[in-house]
Amino acid sequence: MEEQYLIVEKQDRIGKIRLNRPRVLNALNSALIGELADVMEEMDRDDQIRVILLMGSEKAFAAGADIQELAESSPVDFVMKQFFADWERIRKIQKPIIAAVSGYALGGGCELAMCADLIVASETARFGQPEINLGVIPGAGGTQRLTRAVGKARAMEMILTGKPITAREALEAGLVNRVVPADQLEEEALALAKEIAGKPPIAVRLAKQSVLKAMDLPLEHGLHFEQNSFYLLFSSQDQQEGMQAFIEKRKPNFQGK
Ligand code: CAA
Repeated sequence: MEEQYLIVEKQDRIGKIRLNRPRVLNALNSALIGELADVMEEMDRDDQIRVILLMGSEKAFAAGADIQELAESSPVDFVMKQFFADWERIRKIQKPIIAAVSGYALGGGCELAMCADLIVASETARFGQPEINLGVIPGAGGTQRLTRAVGKARAMEMILTGKPITAREALEAGLVNRVVPADQLEEEALALAKEIAGKPPIAVRLAKQSVLKAMDLPLEHGLHFEQNSFYLLFSSQDQQEGMQAFIEKRKPNFQGK
């Protein structure tokens, strides 16, 4: 029987995706990443979904790219298969992604968690970029996103030594949003997802894009993007509803229009 790499469920405007390769600690082979990008793009287009929640198992969010597959690959394979193209598709998802991380988030696993917009970690979570121990370096954004997230000093140490950090250290470094007991991880991540799912979706989408621009663009261009997004939102019904509800002292009902 073929392995089912992802367990997908849609519930209360949340699209839940669970990585499911338990035998190899959710090692991320190309087929899994391709399926993940397909499912996320489908959820991005689905009006019923407002937030994507990405989870692994209790022992491992993901222990990295599949080393077996990497070991059999040549530079030409990488070029011809466009090895990181599906990671780029994940990067372009417009709806907020929350990663709920328990256990190992190593190599590509840490990089995948960093593709999310928010990370809720269990106390057991370990984040690391151990590629150096394999004679390579991170390839799915680790040297760039980790440095932006935790700063040069800590990123350099993690990437040069390959030594993982604990959930508490990740919290202190600003890599994760919160640390919760292992048995409350899904509940806490879901609560955060539901909170954001209740917000006006067009504003959420433009807010995500604007914050991401802050990582990529010089301040002047980022401010320009933010201002244009702000103006654009005044053509949405949700802006009228949000402000009218405030004036009428009632709860807003956002429709995503
Ligand atoms: N790829 C393929 N298989 C993996 C794997 C990976 N990244 N990580 C674990 N596995 C497999 C193991 O080979 C083992 O399989 P078998 O039972 O068939 O031997 C199974 O998962 C269980 O793993 P362990 O027995 O090693 O479990 P452990 O609890 O003793 O150790 C661990 C856990 C510390 C996470 C260890 O498995 C480990 O070090 N894994 C590799 C971590 C790593 O180097 N990740 C980076 C990969 S490269 C990368 O990600 C490149 C990139 O930037 C895109």
